This record gives sequence, structure tokens and C-alpha cells, in this order.
Amino acid sequence: MSTSERAARALKSLHDEEWKTLSGLEEASSGHGTSDLGRLSRMSRLPRERVAFALSQLERRDMVARRGSGYALTKEAVEAMAIRDYVRRDLIFALGAAIAKGKESDVYEVLTEEGTPLALKFYKLGRTSFTRVRKKRFLEGAEMRSWMTANYEAARREYTALKKLEGLSPAFPRAIAHSRSTVLLEELGGVRLSQRPPLVSPRELELAVLESVRIAFLKAHLVNADLSEYNILTTGDSVWLIDWPQAVGTDHPNCMDLLAHDVKTVVNFFRRAYGVELDAGAAVAYASGEAGDSLLL
Ligand SMILES: Nc1ncnc2c1ncn2[C@@H]1O[C@H](COP(=O)(O)OP(=O)(O)OP(=O)(O)O)[C@@H](O)[C@H]1O
Ligand SMILES: [Mg+2]
Repeated sequence: MSTSERAARALKSLHDEEWKTLSGLEEASSGHGTSDLGRLSRMSRLPRERVAFALSQLERRDMVARRGSGYALTKEAVEAMAIRDYVRRDLIFALGAAIAKGKESDVYEVLTEEGTPLALKFYKLGRTSFTRVRKKRFLEGAEMRSWMTANYEAARREYTALKKLEGLSPAFPRAIAHSRSTVLLEELGGVRLSQRPPLVSPRELELAVLESVRIAFLKAHLVNADLSEYNILTTGDSVWLIDWPQAVGTDHPNCMDLLAHDVKTVVNFFRRAYGVELDAGAAVAYASGEAGDSLLL
């Protein structure tokens, strides 16, 4: 069973005082530090011995871990609190099967009370080394204090980017909410473009991708900065651009290089996989708005 599945299971079995203790620990430790029993008892407004008992129960379930003389939340606890948050806000009702388990996140199908499927993305940046995460995710200084901070930050960044993109193109997934190290998203269909599925018109789809890159740049002032065939989903005649936590604003000093890198990655992939010939320089000029609004046909 994965961390996220254990977290979902905890939802049914934790008692009120255990939840209060977890919330108290989150508050007392600002989400991811440690706290001692005294402070925790004040934060959770429970007597010391009740907190001590709740902590012993939580420790047995891997929801808290001892750190020296204090306690810290585990990934399971953070994810359980996030799921509980969505349930309490009436956004989700049940956790379904895993859609994808990757290096940096796990994505699960969840259902609303009406039975609409949504996608819940749990960040797991801690799985890769921090050096790589730091390089790839543009996290700096205090943000890097712990892996949990990085996961919270990635979820918040992805949500913020998707909110800026919302409604600008059907190729951007809708973000519904975020909580802690997770983001709740509209569930998309299709498969990763990296699987090289048959496409109705590879050239048109490539142009649709580039048009969305251009819209993100010109209207939301954002560059994805990690765009590739792995972060594009397709049904064969439509596309979605996913995975935005590392997106940067057009005020970022490297934004033009990052935009050019995204565009060239797309152009090279379509050439390699589908034989589409498109001039990379012209595609970059189009995406940045330098070259008017019609692309190279
Ligand atoms: N909104 C969604 N609806 C359906 N499936 C999704 C959605 N978002 C992500 N997925 C699935 O989860 C996979 C990983 O998502 P994403 O690329 O956003 O995360 P990641 O952190 O890059 O994870 P990975 O390390 O696996 O690439 C996607 O390739 C896709 O299969
Ligand atoms: Mg990805």
C-alpha cells in the first residue's frame, strides 16, 4: 500500500483527538518542523496526557515520528490531512485507483459526491535527490529547508500557475483546489505523447501545442519550463499541457531561454516521432509573439 493509500485509510479510522493532535502539530511546527509535547498540548487544546496518548497511537500508524525530544508529521499524516480537507470542503467523496505513479508525484482518481472523476496529485519530490529537485524546480534558500517544504511549494506553485491559465485554452487542465503537498485537478483523458499514439493530424496537434505555449506566454505571462512529450497528454485529436510547478513568469531573467527550450523540445519530438517538419526558430518567434499570430504553414 502506498503512502497516499495509507493516508486515505487513516481517514476512516482516526479519532477526533488524533486529528486535533495532528492539526496542533501542524500548527506548532509550521507544517514540517518539530514540536514538543508542551507546545503541542497548548496548540491542540488538549490535556498533556491526552496528547501523549494520541501521539502514541499516531506513532504506531506512522502518522507522526519522534525527532529528538519532539515530534514531526510524516508524509502519511500530511496527505491524510489534505484528503480530509477536500472531503470537508465537499470537493471529494472517495479515493479511487492510481492513475500514474512517477518519480515526482503520484496521481490518483478521486470521485465527487455526484460521481465525477477528478485527479488528485500528491507531490513526492523527496524521492529524488534534493540536488536534482533544486536544479529542476527553481527552489531556493529557505524553501529548501526540507523535502516537505519543497512538496508544499510545488503544489502551491502548480495551483497558482493553473489558475492563471484557467479558461485561456482548452489545453490547460483546470485546477480545483490545493491543500498542503497536493493539488486537485480536473481529470483528463488520453495518454502521454511520449507513447507516440496515432494522431489524427500530427502537424495540427503540434500547432495546437505551440498555440497554447504562446497563449501561456502572452496572456498568462508564464513559461512551463519543463515541457516535453512526457508532459503532454493527447486523445489523438486534442492535447493538454500538464505539470506546471516549475513554471516561471515572463519577468524571470531566463524566461526567453526556457521558452525556446520548451518549443524546441516539442518541435524536435514531433519531427522524430511523426516526421513533422517545422522550423524551430520560427516556432520560437511565434510562441513569444515576435512573429505575429499565424505560424509558418
Ligand atoms: N489531470 C490529470 N488527469 C489525468 N491524469 C493525469 C492528470 N495529471 C497528471 N496525470 C497523469 O499523471 C502523470 C504524472 O503527472 P505530472 O506529469 O503532472 O507529474 P510529475 O510530477 O511529472 O510526475 P512524473 O514524475 O510521473 O512525470 C501524467 O503523465 C498523467 O499520466
Ligand atoms: Mg511530468
